[in-house]
Amino acid sequence: MERIIMDWQRIRSDFPILDQQVNGHPLVYLDSAASSQKPRAVIDSLVRFYERDNANVHRALHELSNRATDAFESVRGKVARFIGAASEDEIIFTRGTTEGINLVANSWACANLKPGDVILTSSMEHHSGLVPWQLAAQRTGATLRHIPVLDDGTLDMDAFEKLLTPEVRLLSIVHISNSLGTINPVREMVARAKKTGAVTLVDAAQSTGHVPLNIADIGCDFLVFSGHKICAPTGIGVLYGRYSLLESMPPWHGGGEMILQVRLEASTYKPPPARFEAGTPDIAGVIGLGAAIDYLQAVGLENIEKHGLELASRALTRLDEIPGIRILGPKSGPRGSLVAFHAEWAHPHDLVEFANSHGIAMRGGHHCTQPLMKRFQVPGTTRASFYLYNTPEEIDRLAEVLAAARKFFA
Ligand code: ALA
Repeated sequence: MERIIMDWQRIRSDFPILDQQVNGHPLVYLDSAASSQKPRAVIDSLVRFYERDNANVHRALHELSNRATDAFESVRGKVARFIGAASEDEIIFTRGTTEGINLVANSWACANLKPGDVILTSSMEHHSGLVPWQLAAQRTGATLRHIPVLDDGTLDMDAFEKLLTPEVRLLSIVHISNSLGTINPVREMVARAKKTGAVTLVDAAQSTGHVPLNIADIGCDFLVFSGHKICAPTGIGVLYGRYSLLESMPPWHGGGEMILQVRLEASTYKPPPARFEAGTPDIAGVIGLGAAIDYLQAVGLENIEKHGLELASRALTRLDEIPGIRILGPKSGPRGSLVAFHAEWAHPHDLVEFANSHGIAMRGGHHCTQPLMKRFQVPGTTRASFYLYNTPEEIDRLAEVLAAARKFFA
């Protein structure tokens, strides 16, 4: 079989922001789990839209509005194909992962849950996979349960089996942990939860655009992700919902374009997805999302996945050589393209500042997973997260700077 050699340096050069010095050093951007950088193709799509086609969508019959509407709606189909949804009507544009989960929590959960029902999630969720369910539980009287995390950073699957009682109405689970890099077996978990009749939601914020994703394969009822983590602009995200469920759900936000008829006292609503997209959407964001998907697909999701794993494996090996560094999450096998660690000789914030003074961008702190930090008894971690524009040389540079940091702090 022909082996395709990817030119990752060329891919890196598609990202104009990376071509700069920070604090006198070439920028090494290792914070893509927080937000990814944007290729020229995405930036150009925004400029083109604002220079040529900008108008509101769905509301007028003039040329610019028609062009904007066509461009906007074509991305819905593109997203559906990108994640293997059965129909573009199952794609709802949101502001991001957080809004997608809040939509399900406020619409589906509040309309369907009652005292005695259980929402099952895990202890490795991002706060956006915890707090919306806490709010929904407070409003409906439902109970929250959490699958524990084992010392190796994987979910306790025996506990999952025990927690998955017939009272569980919803399983909400993160695909790839933003704090550990753990890849959860979502397909198996969804299949298992469906047997007991639970509705399932997958938080794919860290997996979309990093690994090939297919809704039909995962089998979940809802899936959420953010555009800004996959090379698209900030402020745009996606909620996938199985159509039969979306159809049964009440609106969450009310306003223009989600209605069929408005009277002063009451209104009727459009079918999904319009029912869940009140007000003027982030039109440019959607167009940028379409350009980002085109870009990622041209590189190939399998290639991106392989590259991400190679970078993470190299980082695991190089960081393991530095005394006093404790890596959280799986030490071998598949993992997300990030490595988080606790250095016993420096607080994460000090370490991130030290790295910044050497041109390296990382995130330090609790990463919006406070319960997980408590579970591992660390005040926070330092996280290096990678994407298609990172190179093995940058991992070596990270290791070099961390070794220097150890000397500096110790
Ligand atoms: N969820 C983002 C992160 O993990 C912000 O950094």
